[in-house]
Amino acid sequence: MTSSHTTTRPPGPRRLSWLSVARQFITDDTTTTLSRLQQTYGDIVRVYFRGESYLIADPDAIQQVLETNQGNYGKSDVYDDQLAELFGDGLLTASEDHWRRQQRVIRPLFRPAAIQTFTELIREETRAMVARWHQHDGPIDLLAETERVTLSIIGKAMFSTDMTPHADRLRNALATVRREFRRQVGGFGPSVPQWIPTKHNRDLAEATEFLDSLVYDLIERRKHSATGADDMLSRLLAARTDDGESLSDTQIRDELITFLLAGHETTATALAWCWYLLCHHPSVHRDLYAWTQSTDWLSATTPPVDESTLAKRCVQEAMRIYPPVPVISRELRAPDRLCGYTLPSGSDVLLSQFLMHRHEDYWDSPLDYRPARFAGPSDRPTYSYFPFGGGARMCIGRQFALYEAQLILGLAVSDCRLTLESPRYDSFDAIERESAVTMQPAPTILTSVDSWE
Ligand code: HEM
Repeated sequence: MTSSHTTTRPPGPRRLSWLSVARQFITDDTTTTLSRLQQTYGDIVRVYFRGESYLIADPDAIQQVLETNQGNYGKSDVYDDQLAELFGDGLLTASEDHWRRQQRVIRPLFRPAAIQTFTELIREETRAMVARWHQHDGPIDLLAETERVTLSIIGKAMFSTDMTPHADRLRNALATVRREFRRQVGGFGPSVPQWIPTKHNRDLAEATEFLDSLVYDLIERRKHSATGADDMLSRLLAARTDDGESLSDTQIRDELITFLLAGHETTATALAWCWYLLCHHPSVHRDLYAWTQSTDWLSATTPPVDESTLAKRCVQEAMRIYPPVPVISRELRAPDRLCGYTLPSGSDVLLSQFLMHRHEDYWDSPLDYRPARFAGPSDRPTYSYFPFGGGARMCIGRQFALYEAQLILGLAVSDCRLTLESPRYDSFDAIERESAVTMQPAPTILTSVDSWE
């Protein structure tokens, strides 16, 4: 809660003890370290994380950064040159001016009517996934399965192309990007210049080359064929800026790679955590099954995008306990007062979904999995829950992600019940987490696939 401090700086570990905090960042999951810092020092903590930073778990301060004074905050420069090159000038990482022009062109791609054009695709891919599960002998690897289905969906939504022939290389390339991001963001000290052929640099260069050639090839082929396909690629090729200009191949490549990287792992992670929680909460799981048997939403030709279905609430509540993106950051352009302290320009603020979503001041029994929390309006502050960020840079794919997740979850649960085989804990939150950009379960979650009797 905000209080007034005029001269002092926010509390936090002293520079020397920061070394031991840094060690924790490396040995434990980032979110565990963030929780410890909040428990020890409160809702604003001074930390040295790639420079002077402030960890924040206060909804009013987060609103100030993302919304009311957003002009004072730029996106933090967390990527080194090589990762920046991979994302290019896609919306996620674009500089302010470019972002302003580009987002006007991209926004229509994510309108509800545009999202609904992918309904049948999501249904088909989910049916194929469930059929595979039934044929499979033994337990399934939950996260690998949700990644596989969301990758197929985003691949076809973007290119109308079956990504299966490229799936292994694509997954490897995305895993390299994730590993590199984890190394760079979690790294303490300068990263090795791009031109030095270390194994990391070579791996990332190879992954970037593969993604580039795949996407440029698809763009090129589409420009020379009249497939009549209605997908994100054709919509980007047809898009015009305010000056009536079409997008360059590089701009199209940057946006598509951004959708691929930002769009599939996040949704897959949300779904995997949701199923993990359902396995630990059989009565909620059964309620969800009962809902699938009684609703028209799942079978409607174009289910309304903004309906608050039980499947959506199950996903929203899972993203509260396990936000796929557990922390985002911004850099102060000029000093600003947050939580009663004046923070200097050039420092970073780390806004943590993970800490806010489990904050006892705003959530009653935060570790209880209760989808009903999202059943109606609430008087909680807006930024006590912000899995998709907020303000102008809020996730552009949020409605797509929730729509896709509800359909996949609802359709699969209508057909089968997953039961946790391993890991097994008395309390579900004993599971170890691993955070790079996204926060994922560290152990492989294995489930068996059963019928509802
Ligand atoms: C459960 C799934 C998802 C989660 C939790 C999620 C989370 C987020 C968050 C937290 C941000 C804000 C980052 C910041 O402010 O620094 C963001 C931005 C973004 N996301 Fe998502 N995302 C999801 C799905 C998707 C999908 C499906 C797509 C596209 C197909 C997508 C594309 C983007 C893009 C392009 C941005 C940058 C928006 C801008 O700066 O204008 N995301 N996402």
